[in-house]
Amino acid sequence: MTPSPLDDLDARTGELLALIEGLTTLDELRDAEATLVGRRSPLATMQRSLGSLEPDERRDAGATLQEARRVVEAALAHRRAELVAADRTQRLEADRLDLGDVVVSDVAWRPAPGHPGLVATTQRALEDVFVAMGFTVADGPEVESDWYNFEALNIPPGHPARGLWDTFYVDLGEPETVVLRTHTSPTQIHLMEEAVANHALPIHSVMPGRCYRRDTPDARHLATFHQVEGIVVDRGITFADLAGVIETFTRAYFGADIDARLRPGYFPFTEPSAEFEITCTLCRGEGCRTCSHTGWIELGGCGMIDPAVFDAVGIDAQEWSGFAFGFGIDRCAQMRHEVPDMRALIENDTRFLRQFS
Ligand code: DAH
Repeated sequence: MTPSPLDDLDARTGELLALIEGLTTLDELRDAEATLVGRRSPLATMQRSLGSLEPDERRDAGATLQEARRVVEAALAHRRAELVAADRTQRLEADRLDLGDVVVSDVAWRPAPGHPGLVATTQRALEDVFVAMGFTVADGPEVESDWYNFEALNIPPGHPARGLWDTFYVDLGEPETVVLRTHTSPTQIHLMEEAVANHALPIHSVMPGRCYRRDTPDARHLATFHQVEGIVVDRGITFADLAGVIETFTRAYFGADIDARLRPGYFPFTEPSAEFEITCTLCRGEGCRTCSHTGWIELGGCGMIDPAVFDAVGIDAQEWSGFAFGFGIDRCAQMRHEVPDMRALIENDTRFLRQFS
């Protein structure tokens, strides 16, 4: 058998590891670095000699050599960390001031700079997608009267659909019912009212914000969550415009391999209405615990604005038509970043949060 360039690999690696173990100062380590892992190292020499091998042998030998190199580099990094720590202890010892009983702490505590949370970044990213599509961004109050949260949206008192949006009631001692908004849809009403008052139709806007529901948190639900609402009110708007916007948004935000589908649904403020679902990004449509084994995740709802809603805000439904949609920002964050359980978004576990800095 012809000798292989790697015959000595184990012996050479052993020598290198012994050399590393024997380093006693950072200066020594710096001087030895080129011989240990740099161009002058025996491993680099072996690497160069692989050129004489057949392609198959070269590939296998390359992988073996790579592994040896990894072991040596890891040992060197480990030794460096030990020497840095020893050096630091030594310097602290030397710099020590004799202050009698006062304890000089090792490192002064400095607060780490924070960063926006995952929901905030997701909201910004969603706004960017819609702004690119020609929408403006508007804001609305989180505390609403019953009229904005329900009645103007064609949900009169006692309507069974109120059960879908059970919420927290705010007792201000006033006759009017005040609630923490259960969805961002009331902001549509504010926007349309303003547009009517200022003769500023048409509207193409999205309205992100926080919402509340009397829900028990689980993998897909939180009692405090975020939605982004959208409305378009213009002349000659059809369901095809709505479907086009949903499709374009899904591709732009989640990528071309995620599909959107609209399923007939019911919302009192749109007619016809649809539920907006996307392929579950966790299982790519195969079915998993997060999507209840359906392969689809519901993001929100949408539909053509009901004439009763136009009536409530004084828009002439003969002249104007429009669509609206509303979907979960937290759900988008969950799907985009493949977070199996949405409760992670509110638990403030820094090991989770740090991943999105
Ligand atoms: N507000 C609805 C919800 O929270 C979602 C929704 C459905 C918003 C249809 C809309 C819409 O604007 O047209 O469940």
